Amino acid sequence: MKLLPLDRPELLELVAGWLARKENHQWLDFGNGRQIITPTLLKIMAQRETHFLRAFTSEREDIPIGIVGLNSVDRTFKTAMFWGAVGEKSFRNRGYSTVASSKFLTLAFRDLGLHAINTWAVDHNQSLRIIERLGFRFVGRQRQCHYIDGRAYDRVMFDLLASEHKELEDDRWHRVEDRSIHREAGSSRGPLDPRGQPLARPAHGAPGKPGTERVHRVQDRLVDCNHNDEGSR
Ligand SMILES: CC(C)(COP(=O)(O)OP(=O)(O)OC[C@H]1O[C@@H](n2cnc3c(N)ncnc32)[C@H](O)[C@@H]1OP(=O)(O)O)[C@@H](O)C(=O)NCCC(=O)NCCS
Repeated sequence: MKLLPLDRPELLELVAGWLARKENHQWLDFGNGRQIITPTLLKIMAQRETHFLRAFTSEREDIPIGIVGLNSVDRTFKTAMFWGAVGEKSFRNRGYSTVASSKFLTLAFRDLGLHAINTWAVDHNQSLRIIERLGFRFVGRQRQCHYIDGRAYDRVMFDLLASEHKELEDDRWHRVEDRSIHREAGSSRGPLDPRGQPLARPAHGAPGKPGTERVHRVQDRLVDCNHNDEGSR
């Protein structure tokens, strides 16, 4: 997987096209309620010191499929706000975001000298589980501050220190291989993970539909902790 700087007009157009889609921008906030980013604005963002953006590619064909970024990069306090989206829908739920985010965080901590990276996700967004897997720690819940289709949702806030970040191993291909081995064996037990345990593949959440049991479990753990007021990215 490659992490590409947004330095070509066609890449800027592609990424801006992804971010123009409601299914993506409804979950984001680029400050003062701005959710849609034009190619021109994206180009300005890509050149600013306050942003750090990379498109990530698929493993095999090397085509750009998603974007990971930092907004509010602060060199004095060594902090930034992380966000991301998969633009090519057919590449979702295959582990690409998780792996791209993990590699991107390594790059951000190393090259920008950051000490802490913050992020937030709208309640029920699938990325809550990814954020957890990346090692982010829950720091608070900003209540009813994010509107989707006229309904207010909470934002769940997290942070990750440089000392806590460990790049995740890319186990996607093991998992894909495990599945095909299992299919070939004709088993009815479903796919196995690398440790030989069955792989659970839950349905995913959507606005107003807190999708899975796992989302609830993550959120149950989150609900009792402190409140934090930091918002836009
Ligand atoms: C949220 C979003 C970025 C997730 O991207 P993604 O690439 O689908 O995420 P991943 O594939 O890394 O992880 C999703 C699931 O795939 C699973 N997965 C990982 N490897 C896999 C594999 N080899 N085969 C099948 N599934 C796999 C993960 O376990 C995860 O499952 P879970 O969510 O049930 O725990 C994407 O849905 C998106 O762009 N949404 C719109 C924008 C948005 O909401 N951004 C987040 C706000 S910052």
